[in-house]
Amino acid sequence: MSQVALITGCSSGIGLALVQQLVTLNYHVIATVRREADLARITALGAEGRLLDVTDAQGVDALVTDVEQRYQGLDVLINNAGFGAMGPVLDFDDKALTHQFEVNVMAPVRLARATLLLLKARGGVVFNIGSVAGEVSSPYAGVYCASKAALHRLNDAMRMELAPLGVDVVLVRPGAIESRFGQRARHELSGRLKEDSPWRPFRAGIDKRAGSSELLSSTPASRLAEKVASALAASRRPAIIRVGNGGLALPLLALLPHRMRDYWLKRYFGLNDASS
Ligand SMILES: NC(=O)c1ccc[n+]([C@@H]2O[C@H](COP(=O)([O-])OP(=O)(O)OC[C@H]3O[C@@H](n4cnc5c(N)ncnc54)[C@H](OP(=O)(O)O)[C@@H]3O)[C@@H](O)[C@H]2O)c1
Repeated sequence: MSQVALITGCSSGIGLALVQQLVTLNYHVIATVRREADLARITALGAEGRLLDVTDAQGVDALVTDVEQRYQGLDVLINNAGFGAMGPVLDFDDKALTHQFEVNVMAPVRLARATLLLLKARGGVVFNIGSVAGEVSSPYAGVYCASKAALHRLNDAMRMELAPLGVDVVLVRPGAIESRFGQRARHELSGRLKEDSPWRPFRAGIDKRAGSSELLSSTPASRLAEKVASALAASRRPAIIRVGNGGLALPLLALLPHRMRDYWLKRYFGLNDASS
């Protein structure tokens, strides 16, 4: 019988590439999407498509119950679904702030909690898709950066806590990867920046940050999927997979003294004139 993998957020980009890769490796892949229209793409790849919004706790429970009844275990969980909420931190209302954390932070924990016994039954592995943005906070992406930083810290604790249960936890920390991420980030931003926002005059820098994953030449998502496949095959899995353009250079910024880093980032995103 094939090993079973559950991957969230598979309509495009990294999730879709992971589906392709794991099907090739002969996994039975259960791939979640939010829209009916995306199911056909999943089926065409030879995977089982399921509808799921990862913020829907009941939907998660129903899916996991179904996996338990049909397969009695789970070999791989990939928490991939996520998005980048862009804009100045104080332009977020409570609802928008909470939603970013529900999708990028709460949902991966919920999925891991719901599948823990199934993963334990198979000596399984959890991959959490973090981001290089979780290593250094940049203007206009503070909410996204904070959500990924939170996921990284939770991932690290889970890696230690799940080890005695025989379940590996691996953080994937992408740089710029080809996907619909930038498109979604710009769409997110379009509804946020109000006419009376104090940051309205800095619109050009805000737009630049929302599209910044597209400023670097992006790495194909298949490259990330290959690295995940290597980790799956390894007898000793890495704690972290770093992949994608900017994935090594940007965290170096985090090592700079705060003032120096702020100066560089503010200048890059057009904020220097405002504070001096
Ligand atoms: N691309 C990059 O440069 C990059 C860099 C670092 C980290 N990442 C991370 O990589 C992961 C995948 O993103 P991507 O780059 O492949 O972007 P993408 O092409 O936009 O894919 C994101 C996926 O997440 C799904 N999603 C978003 N909100 C969801 C929700 N509430 N419930 C269920 N699914 C939801 C999207 O579904 P819909 O199509 O229905 O919206 C889509 O399938 C994300 O966690 C992202 O933060 C990406």
